[in-house]
This record gives sequence, C-alpha cells and structure tokens, in this order.
Amino acid sequence: MAIIFSGIQPSGTLTIGNYLGAMKHFVDLQEDNTCYFCIVDEHAITVPQDPKELQKNIRSLAALYIAVGIDPTKSTLFIQSEVPAHAQLGWIMQCISYIGELERMTQFKDKSAGKEAVSAGLLTYPPLMVADILLYNTEIVPVGEDQKQHIELTRDLAERFNKKYAEIFTIPEARIPKVGARIMSLQDPTKKMSKSDANTKAFISMLDTEKQIEKKIKSAVTDSEGIIKYDKENKPGISNLLTIYSICANKTIEELEKEYEGKGYGVFKADVAQAVIQTLKPIQERYYELIESKELDDYLDLGAEKANTVASKMLKKVEKAMGLGRSR
Ligand code: TYM
Repeated sequence: MAIIFSGIQPSGTLTIGNYLGAMKHFVDLQEDNTCYFCIVDEHAITVPQDPKELQKNIRSLAALYIAVGIDPTKSTLFIQSEVPAHAQLGWIMQCISYIGELERMTQFKDKSAGKEAVSAGLLTYPPLMVADILLYNTEIVPVGEDQKQHIELTRDLAERFNKKYAEIFTIPEARIPKVGARIMSLQDPTKKMSKSDANTKAFISMLDTEKQIEKKIKSAVTDSEGIIKYDKENKPGISNLLTIYSICANKTIEELEKEYEGKGYGVFKADVAQAVIQTLKPIQERYYELIESKELDDYLDLGAEKANTVASKMLKKVEKAMGLGRSR
C-alpha cells in the first residue's frame, strides 16, 4: 500500500503516448494503493491557451481518466486549480529552487529553444510539479521517461527543505514502465510523440477514429530494410510500432518478431492499427457516455474536496516550519 500521485496536462487531446506511458499504469496501481490523479490545468497555462479550449480540454481529460478505468470513488481525481494549495506550495518551492537548476531542465530547454517570448512560468513549472507531488506524502510517481528529471528535482527540493526547516516531506520515487516509457512520433521516430505536435500525422490521439488510426499508422515513417525487428538505433520507426503493438496486444516484442518473420511492413502496419483500434474502442465508448454527463462534475467535486483536505493540512505544516504567517 503506497501513496501514488500523477498528473496530466489538459493541453490537447491525449495521445497513445500519454496512455501507454502513463495512464494505463495508473489503472493497475489504483487497486492496492491510495491514488491521486490530477488534471494539471495550471501547468497548461505556461504556454498560451485559449480559455474556451482549455475548459473543453479539462473536461475531456477528466472523462478520459474515468474512461480508461480510474474509479473516482476509489482514487482522488481532481483539477489542480480547484485545490489552491498547489499554487501556494508551488511558490514556496520556487523560493527554495535555484534558477540554474531550473534552466538545466531538458523540457525547459526544448520548449524555450528559438522562442522570443518565453513565460517565466515555463521556467518555474518544475517547482509547481514538485508541489503537486509533495502535498500528498507521495511515495510513487508513475510517469513516462520525459518526466524523470522533474522527479529527480522533486527529490532534491524535498531533501533541501527537510534539511533546512523540518523533516516534513516524503521523498518520492519515479515509476517508469519498462516498455512504452517513450512512445515516439510516427513521422519522426527519433522524437517523442507529443500532443502539441503541429503535424497531426505524428501522433494518434485517444479519440481518433478507426480511419484516422489506420491512415496514420500506414503513413508512419519506417525504413527500407523490410525486416520486422526491434533495433532502436537503426530501425526507430519499426521499433516504435513494435512497442505500441506489444502493449496494445499484450504480447512480447520477441513474440511479435517471430510472428512477423518474413512478412512485409504493409501487413504488419495493418495489424498494429487493429491492435490500437481495439485498445481504444472501449475507452472511446465510455468517454462519449461521460463527456456530457452531470456525473462527471459530481466526481470532480468529490475529488476537489478530498484533495483540499489533505493538501491544505500539508501546506499549513510547511508554512509553520518556515515561519510564514502567525503561529497557529
Ligand atoms: P504531460 O501532460 O506532458 O504527459 C502526461 C504523462 O504522459 C507521459 N507521456 C509519455 N509517455 C510515453 N511516451 C510519450 N510520448 C509520452 N508523452 C507523454 C508523461 O511522461 C506523463 O507521465 N509535467 C507533467 C504533468 C505533471 C505531473 C505532475 C506528473 C504535473 N504535475 C506531478 C506527475 C506528477 C506533464 O507535462 O505531463
């Protein structure tokens, strides 16, 4: 029995990268643990968002969490901005982090490269993520590989705080899946699949139709060797498709390599598409039942209430240890 926390940004429809790298594992974890799953809308505004779109994306993400199998009466499912302690502890965490260490974050470097106007929030986003995690005494943070550095920062800041003020924070650990921790772009398999990619052919959204999925996988960039074999260095496209197929069909990569010995990319791609379609079908059906329902709001109200109770207690402890406000 452990305390689990993870978050996803409502910054566009989730991709199968988000699902296979993170969300799918949330469902397995919720059985035996105390889980918090967050819609991190305050993270999303580190880059410009259209307010109406953001509202839509928040609701859509909430419905997706439940559609994949998160039980909102068992786990705490909530929206970050509805729990003010996140922004409050986020500020405190900014004050104990150094600009240098934030500038070294790979994600900051990637997202700010070549841009003229970069929001300060893009730089100070990791301390907010640190706050998300530390508010709940989190022990395990299930994430894809791209978040590993942020979890390391979380450990550093928690230790720094504990040493300087009081032993308050639990030091969390990242839980990164062995297969699928980094699903790659279908158009450039050396780059991570991302929901904010300008080229929509590069990713499969969790709400894509069968036709779209078939088309996107058919046009996925591979190589000209014609051999279905896992080799990340030399065959990144085929290796990525093998990874996706392996998780969706619940078969090992070795099994698939054997099964497709001597077969062509056309047949292979068609089967990968079918495996993805079959994985997403039940999720999409449940999603469309939920998206307009009042049920969804009730679950989010319940989640906000549960999260606020835990988070505000932790925030008070931290403020007291630092000498903020009056002693209570
Ligand atoms: P976000 O919204 O970019 O992604 C959500 C989750 O999906 C994983 N992921 C992937 N996994 C495999 N392959 C991919 N191509 C891929 N793309 C994304 C991410 O690793 C992540 O687990 N900063 C976080 C959100 C966050 C958070 C937190 C996470 C905020 N606070 C506290 C954990 C704990 C983010 O931007 O994830």
